[in-house]
Amino acid sequence: MRKNKAFSFLPFSPQQKRLMYWWAAGSPHRDCSMVIADGAVRSGKTVAMICGFFQWSLASFPEGETFILAGKTIGALKRNVIRPALQILNAWGLPFHYVSSGDEARLEVGSNVYYLYDAHNERSQDRLQGLTAAGALADEVALFPQNFIEQMIARCSVDGAKLWLNCNPESPAHYVKTELIDKAAEKGIYHLRFLMKDNLTLSPEKRAMYERMYEGVFYRRFILGEWCLAEGLIYSGFDAALHVKAELPEKLSGRWFISIDYGTVNPFSAGLWCVSGGKAYRVREYYFDSREKHRQHTDDEYYAALEELAGAHVIEAVVVDPSAASFIELIRRKGRFAVRKARNEVLDGIRLTARLLNEGRIVIGSGCKDAIREFGLYVWDEKAVGEDKPLKTNDHAMDEIRYLCSTVLRPLDRGGALED
Ligand SMILES: Nc1ncnc2c1ncn2[C@@H]1O[C@H](COP(=O)(O)OP(=O)(O)OP(=O)(O)O)[C@@H](O)[C@H]1O
Ligand SMILES: [Mg+2]
Repeated sequence: MRKNKAFSFLPFSPQQKRLMYWWAAGSPHRDCSMVIADGAVRSGKTVAMICGFFQWSLASFPEGETFILAGKTIGALKRNVIRPALQILNAWGLPFHYVSSGDEARLEVGSNVYYLYDAHNERSQDRLQGLTAAGALADEVALFPQNFIEQMIARCSVDGAKLWLNCNPESPAHYVKTELIDKAAEKGIYHLRFLMKDNLTLSPEKRAMYERMYEGVFYRRFILGEWCLAEGLIYSGFDAALHVKAELPEKLSGRWFISIDYGTVNPFSAGLWCVSGGKAYRVREYYFDSREKHRQHTDDEYYAALEELAGAHVIEAVVVDPSAASFIELIRRKGRFAVRKARNEVLDGIRLTARLLNEGRIVIGSGCKDAIREFGLYVWDEKAVGEDKPLKTNDHAMDEIRYLCSTVLRPLDRGGALED
């Protein structure tokens, strides 16, 4: 991380200024103990929050206090918060000391210390225990486990402590919505909703690009900033006229992969992919539904089908759902294919897949009948209260397409190698 680069400020919008100065003398919200900035992506929440948080904490606690900087992962926290924060401090000409790794990872500014925390899983909150803090900045807080948010609130016990939370909307039954935003008045929380127009630095072209990236529930949440239920088709942006191509040649040049969702009683689905020029072409597929065929396949029979699907292509990796332990073992034993266990974070993967579809970066060969069929049937489970879950039917090709996106396309997009 370069420490000497300074942030180049452009004019802040009125909404960003509200977020930066709500605590200051003369503000009607100065007595609130928390601010929540939610809303659209790229709307300038994080950068305004960083500016406000440091100005407030440095002005209010010159004697030195402890603060929490939290993100879903340390990587996300560094990317979204620490890096701009260091540039902002540079631009203000404020010296700082940054310890970037270890349990004591922290940023020291003046006499204040800001510790870095990840809010990754149920155990993440353990590191907060015993801490006494004068404030917290929580970036993307709707992705945190509830117990971390509760613990973080409990830790901010110094007189005058304030919490600064930002996020994109999720389900209307989410804790952040029901317990904080909906009870903002009674709990002394200042709520600010951001839209892309609140970021004056976004060009109309960029804004249009982000608007095109999302469909359905994701459009409502990430563009319109609504806490809305996931209902209806999951990939509502899938359009056969756009995404299905009549004939995909076997002679495409690119890197070849196979993605698999394993099932014996449930269907088994596999796709042969060529990744080229930032797009993934599903050239052919293999789909076996034992119920429909009234017989089950053995792992050896599935392996033979996998060999046939691969044909003469050099396959860089076969991406398999991590639960298919015995089949993964079999593929490894045979020695022809390298195996990758698929990344299986469902919602994150669905969001990524939906975006890639919207960007026209997933192309389905017209012979892939079962994938095309499932795109038209894959729906949200509307009975799953409080969490977004796909209905677990017609989800087999959908799962392996998601595995390909999360495990192969995302790391390649970031210019990195495939991860183990
Ligand atoms: N006043 C400003 N000066 C310079 N750059 C700005 C300003 N306001 C916003 N930006 C830039 O606009 C981009 C989006 O802002 P930011 O990351 O704060 O949005 P966000 O609402 O947190 O988005 P997301 O929901 O995607 O995390 C960033 O690159 C940020 O640096
Ligand atoms: Mg942000």
